[in-house]
Amino acid sequence: MTTLAGKSVLLIIGGGIAAYKTHELVRLMKTRGAAVRIILSKAAEQFVTPLSLASLSGEKVYTSLFSLTDEVEMGHIQLSRAADLLVVAPATADLMAKMAHGLADDLASTALLATDKRVLVAPAMNVRMWRHPATIRNVETLKLDGVAVVGPNDGEMACGEFGPGRMAEPNEILAAIIDMLKPRAQPLAGKKVVITAGPTREPIDPVRFISNHSSGKQGYAIARAAADLGAEAILVSGPVSLPLPPGVQVMPVETAQEMLEMCEGEMPADIAIFTAAVADWRVAAESHEKLKKTGSGPPSLTLIENPDILATISRSAKRPRIVVGFAAETERVTEHAAQKLKNKGCDLIVANDVSRDSGVFGGDRNTVHLVSAAGVEDWPPLSKDDVAQKLMERLAQMLVPQQKAAE
Ligand code: C5P
Repeated sequence: MTTLAGKSVLLIIGGGIAAYKTHELVRLMKTRGAAVRIILSKAAEQFVTPLSLASLSGEKVYTSLFSLTDEVEMGHIQLSRAADLLVVAPATADLMAKMAHGLADDLASTALLATDKRVLVAPAMNVRMWRHPATIRNVETLKLDGVAVVGPNDGEMACGEFGPGRMAEPNEILAAIIDMLKPRAQPLAGKKVVITAGPTREPIDPVRFISNHSSGKQGYAIARAAADLGAEAILVSGPVSLPLPPGVQVMPVETAQEMLEMCEGEMPADIAIFTAAVADWRVAAESHEKLKKTGSGPPSLTLIENPDILATISRSAKRPRIVVGFAAETERVTEHAAQKLKNKGCDLIVANDVSRDSGVFGGDRNTVHLVSAAGVEDWPPLSKDDVAQKLMERLAQMLVPQQKAAE
């Protein structure tokens, strides 16, 4: 039986009929040796009582944000930071909406906003609420923020309807908790990983620029995965609209030239991964005034080539031990990638098909092929998060044997 001894869980109970199942969840966690502190939302108090939960957990149950005694004994910030993991069960549509938007108007939502720990939610609601575009959006936002989700399961609900919306069973929630709390290997502890992501913006005049559709999602996911493996993760990012990944240092840039300078400034590093969709060209002479329609036809722009950041870093004296490039191709994907591997002097190219119907640009999934001197390895379609995790694990393996040989 996997133990949770020495681990502390803050369980936040939302107001839904599934709240009754948290009694069993608390019992299971306690059996495994976890310390369990509990916050009841106001609505949850209608379904379960602080007294029963205090008896099961052996700890005081917190219910109100403005209890002076509670604040003196254990402030709400400390309450959420003292835990190793926050679990929200049942996570109601309302509580998840608050989390997704950073609202903090009661103890439950304040603890969730104040934490720097991992969060697991076990949603439970009516099937129509679960399928509502607002809930779908909120759950997506939470996932992007790094919140883990268990369930909901399909089945008959208390309201008599059938479909997804039933809270995961206590043993399923416990399994997710055990998985999240198990000690993770940190093979990249003490290593520095620099990642480029997003598009670049090349100005034409003060109001116009040349750019592309890169969302930055893959690069952001890689930075997060590198940080999860213990690396000092530096994310040199073009303009994107993504939340800042936890544990990652983001260095915002706009142009290719700025991205190159920032990367050079971050050297030396152990690994560099170039996912950015750098504009190939920039306007030779950026106009300092807004270009006007003159009546004599459109202006002609002279473009000049941007520096190739990957190739420059790869050939520099401070070359990281492992250099990884990405190749977005629309045809003959691996063939072009193999050529790129040679031309750019990198150790690995992660090639993907970005043809119009692949859904890669801006989407959440990616089908990649790893091209190295050893050959081509095809990966199945995966989420961008899974590609990131698998790739970082692979790079950590590549780095560590080199390190051992050098010792
Ligand atoms: O040549 P292409 O743009 O297809 O190469 C893609 C790879 O090179 C990506 O890893 C990209 O981040 C990197 N790159 C770069 N600087 C450029 C162009 C591409 O770092 N100017």
